[in-house]
Amino acid sequence: MPVALSTVPEFHTSPGMRDILPPESARWRWFVDVFGEVVGAANFGLIIPPLLEDMGVFRRMGEATDVVTKEMYDFVDKGERHVALRPEQTASICRAFVQHRPLLPWKVWYTGPNFRYEKPQRGRYRQFDQVGIEVLGADDPYLDVEVIALGWEFYRRLGLRKVRLLVNSLGEPADRARYVAALLEYFTANLDALSTDSRVTLAKNPLRVLDSKRPEDAALIATAPRIAQFYSAEAAAHFEAVQAGLNALEVPFVLDPTLVRGLDYYRRTTFEYQGLTLDSAQNALGGGGRYDGLVESLGGPPTHGVGFALGLDRTLLACDDEGVFASPADPLDVFVVDTTGGMEALRITTLLREAGLSVDRAYENRSMKSQMKVADRSGAAYAVIVGTDELADGTVVLRPLRTESGQQAIPRIELLDHLKKALS
Ligand code: HAM
Repeated sequence: MPVALSTVPEFHTSPGMRDILPPESARWRWFVDVFGEVVGAANFGLIIPPLLEDMGVFRRMGEATDVVTKEMYDFVDKGERHVALRPEQTASICRAFVQHRPLLPWKVWYTGPNFRYEKPQRGRYRQFDQVGIEVLGADDPYLDVEVIALGWEFYRRLGLRKVRLLVNSLGEPADRARYVAALLEYFTANLDALSTDSRVTLAKNPLRVLDSKRPEDAALIATAPRIAQFYSAEAAAHFEAVQAGLNALEVPFVLDPTLVRGLDYYRRTTFEYQGLTLDSAQNALGGGGRYDGLVESLGGPPTHGVGFALGLDRTLLACDDEGVFASPADPLDVFVVDTTGGMEALRITTLLREAGLSVDRAYENRSMKSQMKVADRSGAAYAVIVGTDELADGTVVLRPLRTESGQQAIPRIELLDHLKKALS
């Protein structure tokens, strides 16, 4: 008789969203652990802001930002509040700072998913994870250096080598405003030479035209006015100190006067870590900068801020490309095979797990052959086997699974001691 096909629809993840399955998921946790170690050593404490915030929090990131105008997952909740899933965490952290008024400087790190309604492709997802740090309340250029160097050190710890650090300064707000006016004038005078897309960008946000990757815009961008011509003395001195600090720490960087980054809250220092093995459209592994002014725009006192966020998804793609930071091997110590009904396996696994060993077992009282197959596949170092004879005389058979050496029958009460010795 033909098997009736199910009429219940199957569900799959939404576009741009992914399941991270084992063993890849173990690598994600390890990534976060390594990051926590690197920034923990610099006295950053973990902050866990909510995934959902009042939409107003994210609007302060800049009304001309695509992330805010086009990519938000926002909706009105049952209490008539306009809320949104966070597209990043810097704005949430500034909101938390205003709400809790911690002591200065406030050094926090974070991890977790963010949501942007982008066109999904390799390295660009609608739900993606970041790790990051933020420091609120200090205006020291050497702090910018420390922040940039911590990101650099983290990439080193992962084993990544094909990473390029780009650095720029967008000047003080007044410098930036004069620069934007000059760019508008320059691009408007050369409108015919600009791509159609960049003309649209020019009307909304002239700085972002510098971000264009379109070949037809390249020549015009190359001869566009440079931000350095507009720096105030303070902004120039701050940026010089940042560069001197990076040189002193021997962190290699490239000055990129066209680095404006996608978010509008940056002032003075901006930087980006690029993965040289990735496609140019998605090669930003992480980035950040100063955002003095963001706390004020969220109702707080004038407060300096600097930080970065690194994308997990993309950084792991770069690790794959370089063959580094592979999924951690987490082999099982013991696999218990029990052909007497399963109660003995239940007891033994519990006992061994309580003693700190990693242990798994077969279920459903299958045949010895089928249980041994699962034991072999599990990668465990030892199989503990219980059959009717062993159950009757209070023994178990201990069989090494990764070496050829022979098996032995041992009294059940000596099993734990035996295993501890064998596994040490
Ligand atoms: P961002 O440049 O928007 O900056 O994002 C930082 C990193 O998150 C990117 O370099 C990229 O690796 C990753 N990322 C962003 N969007 C996606 C996506 N759709 N799919 C996969 N990965 C993505 C920020 O988010 C700022 N909050 C950084 C910051 C912190 N600035 C100061 N403090």
